[in-house]
Amino acid sequence: MWLYTDTVTEHFQNPRNVGEVENADGVGDVGSLACGDALKLTLKIEDDRIVDAKFKTFGCASAIASSSALTEMIKGMEIAEAEKITNEDIADFLGGLPKEKMHCSVMGREALEAAIADYRGEKLPSAEGEVVCECFGVTDVEISRAIKESSLRSLEEITNFTKAGGGCGKCEDKLEALLRQTISEGLQMVEIDKKPTRMTTLQKIKKIEDVLEREVRPGLRLDGGDIELIDVDGDFVIVSMRGQCTSCAKSETTIKELVEKKLREQVLETLIVEEEK
Ligand code: FES
Repeated sequence: MWLYTDTVTEHFQNPRNVGEVENADGVGDVGSLACGDALKLTLKIEDDRIVDAKFKTFGCASAIASSSALTEMIKGMEIAEAEKITNEDIADFLGGLPKEKMHCSVMGREALEAAIADYRGEKLPSAEGEVVCECFGVTDVEISRAIKESSLRSLEEITNFTKAGGGCGKCEDKLEALLRQTISEGLQMVEIDKKPTRMTTLQKIKKIEDVLEREVRPGLRLDGGDIELIDVDGDFVIVSMRGQCTSCAKSETTIKELVEKKLREQVLETLIVEEEK
């Protein structure tokens, strides 16, 4: 579904340094199972140098690849050098990540910072922030930092990098206020891109379900077929289909093409329909 680089695929299929370092000197535990992504990074540190690094992660292919890449990048590094690693460095190591998956590289950087802070006996600033997005437990400090570091200019980009705003959408006003505030603090006069077509995942799923129910199922059911929405992952709409509608058979259009056309017209023009394998 996602277009991954060969390096991402390779690290996902053969992740390096999986597990936990025994008697770790620094532990970074970020994300949560409830939010869909979690990463535990453990470090063995000698004379301020990372001599071993291992990870355990719960998440998608990008989360696994980002964690694996991170451990490869930091092994042998001095702490002073490792703490300069950014999420962009992790994504670059992998030859890039789909924009919707940049939050996986951010999770890697956050785990590294947490592990170094743990080693030093310090507290992370993000732990002191106020939670802005309840769905994903993201604080204002984390969001402002992502806006500054990655030059984010839209709510969609904030969601891609932090996950904030990707659920119920209730935090959108707060995210927009943070975006304006952070940009004005940086004294940069730029246009904020609040796309009117932006939808949260839940809104997108609801619209897709409405179109399937109204425009697709009636035709399929006439011929004993049906369609089921399996998943929506960014622009990818995964469906399970049965049967063939009469109008499709006449015009030699596949059901997939018909569904994709309807969804692009009525929900979002970038949607791609794929059949469940
Ligand atoms: S509170 Fe942010 S998406 Fe639900």
